[in-house]
Amino acid sequence: MTSHSSSEKDRVVIFDTTLRDGEQSPGATMTHEEKLEVAELLDQMGVDVIEAGFPIASEGDFQAVHEIAKRTRNAVVCGLARAAFKDIDRCAEAIKPASRKRIHTFLSTSPVHMKHKLQKEPHEVYEMVIAQVTRARNYTDDVEWSSEDGTRTEIDFLCRCVEAAIKAGATTINIPDTVGYTTPEEYYTLFKTVRERVPNSDQAVFSVHCHDDLGMAVANSLAGVRGGARQIECTINGIGERAGNTALEEVVMAMKVRSEVLPWWTGIDATMLTRASKLVSAVTSFPVQYNKAIVGRNAFAHESGIHQDGMLKNAQTYEIMTPESVGVKQTSLVMGKHSGRHAFVRKLEDLGYKLSANQLEDAFVRFKALADRKKQVQDEDIEALVDEEIATAHD
Ligand code: KIV
Ligand code: ZN
Repeated sequence: MTSHSSSEKDRVVIFDTTLRDGEQSPGATMTHEEKLEVAELLDQMGVDVIEAGFPIASEGDFQAVHEIAKRTRNAVVCGLARAAFKDIDRCAEAIKPASRKRIHTFLSTSPVHMKHKLQKEPHEVYEMVIAQVTRARNYTDDVEWSSEDGTRTEIDFLCRCVEAAIKAGATTINIPDTVGYTTPEEYYTLFKTVRERVPNSDQAVFSVHCHDDLGMAVANSLAGVRGGARQIECTINGIGERAGNTALEEVVMAMKVRSEVLPWWTGIDATMLTRASKLVSAVTSFPVQYNKAIVGRNAFAHESGIHQDGMLKNAQTYEIMTPESVGVKQTSLVMGKHSGRHAFVRKLEDLGYKLSANQLEDAFVRFKALADRKKQVQDEDIEALVDEEIATAHD
């Protein structure tokens, strides 16, 4: 891992929306207490902005945002609001106790959304952008405006709306890939173009918000940062609408591990990533897939003999980051039919056995036979077969 630039211009704001977009995943509802627990952990791990909920959506959401606003010590607490004054007022009420507060207000700008969802003409949408941001600015000087379905929005109209939002007082401009449609090259160009064409663009922080419908949310987010965005909206374990959002742990570790080509940095304490992943999985009852990058249970597990042999010689042969760096105690060499003699010998040492060469040979044959029958061989299985070998051995 190479050291990152510490320049402020390369600092990326981590905006966590696990409690808002994440909770919008069908089936991921969290209780009030669970939300407070997640928010506390996000705050401890160095998340810059916690999007705590959508206060107008329900009394429960309002109460959760309100309580998180009271308790959060470091992070900015943010609530979501549509382009309706009643939403913005309710959101302002919910975040009121926070020492640092943000209103995030959004409006669709793409032709398909304006025509079918909003049933409004572009000039009406344009006026609504100004009105919503102006309303939000009455409550806080930290206002984020999002052009929903931004990646399918006509570029001239997008630039006009962004310029108007900044003029009305928006301090963060988010251009979401709401439907997970864009590609890295396209998203990079979008940010570059908007920042170049909008005359007051230097008065706002630009933000990426990606969905994973085509599996490109993390790559797209990093491409947007290359295009000049300095905020990433993401969720723990990548939970979120449909295929989910950008996974926080993945973008953070990508920037840490590949800092020579992704030269940006965040304030996240990466050693807390595994804890956060486990907590979010437990409270949402969403299992983390075994092979999930960074936090999956196989992310630091090796079964094949060739890999285990390499790992025993030097961990850098098959690991690009240490398990400790993301809060995992140690690498695990999983014993199975692909495991080799070296790993077996190491396992016996760890379990406290000293066998003669012949005993070892026999035990290894027994182990391979067992591994062919069982998917994974546990320590107890190895202990049993070695004890049997010792009991029946003649040397
Ligand atoms: O995906 C999206 O467009 C959103 C907005 C509300 C920011 O979640
Ligand atoms: Zn979203």
